[in-house]
Amino acid sequence: MKKIHCLNPIAECGTKLFPEDYVFTDQAAEADALLVRSASMHEMELPENLLAVGRAGAGVNNIPLDECAQQGIVVFNTPGANANGVKELVLAGLFLASRDIAGGLAWCKENAADPQIAKTTEKSKKAFAGCEIKGKKLGVIGLGAIGAEVANAATHLGMEVYGYDPYLSVNAAWRLSRNVKHITNADTIFRECDYITVHVPLLESTKGMIDKEKLDMMKDGVVILNFARDILVNDDDMAEAVAAGRVARYVSDFPNPKVANMDRVILMPHLGASTKESEDNCAVMAVQELTDYLENGNIRNS
Ligand code: MLT
Repeated sequence: MKKIHCLNPIAECGTKLFPEDYVFTDQAAEADALLVRSASMHEMELPENLLAVGRAGAGVNNIPLDECAQQGIVVFNTPGANANGVKELVLAGLFLASRDIAGGLAWCKENAADPQIAKTTEKSKKAFAGCEIKGKKLGVIGLGAIGAEVANAATHLGMEVYGYDPYLSVNAAWRLSRNVKHITNADTIFRECDYITVHVPLLESTKGMIDKEKLDMMKDGVVILNFARDILVNDDDMAEAVAAGRVARYVSDFPNPKVANMDRVILMPHLGASTKESEDNCAVMAVQELTDYLENGNIRNS
């Protein structure tokens, strides 16, 4: 019998896969294994008998990896399980940045009930005009499960896609469409792309990686998308580049207060993996990994 504690609600299609003699406990301190989504574990005391943590998601920056390693606690994540969900929202971000969908929707909410609407529609059509993404250059930094999905999908939208990943795995390389140009120097992406999207894990080396130096290299009018982790982007430097108009749009899946009130900034509250499908896939994978470890000692995605 093993005790499982969930630090966040985890989809039932996953939790019901635990063997019958497993029980859920309200007390983290009693748990043999923890299931977590986005809750931070950095402040919590790790349970004494904890054997494993299953992160229902890709990033593991909410988990104290060093402390877990010191205590022999195995940490699993679920790479790829939410990649489609995140990819779809990144594609939405490309469109939101290129067409003034948000402006148009807000304008209609305010004006569409007016019987005289036809008179002003022509004017607003001009005010909300945008550009097309077909033929534009997209740079994808980080070609793991999510980056590779984004890169491939963008080729089908007619974009010229440049991909950069210093640690490109053989698996990821296989997943890439032939139409994605593999770039070996990230500066080429910073200098040449019209749209740049970041899909790297949060590490000491990637914190603030989109900073003034990189922003200064970029084309005037570049669009930057960040659906990975907020602090990959230096928010002071980004605010300055947006204010100066050098960044035409910053689309981020994080409600960052430094840029929240700026025109040309589009923010979301980390919705990338918030789909039923992604939550189900992550829950199933995390529970399978935990069970396989607790029952058989097998370790995958650790
Ligand atoms: C992830 O790390 O899997 C994504 O950021 C999605 C999430 O955790 O909500």
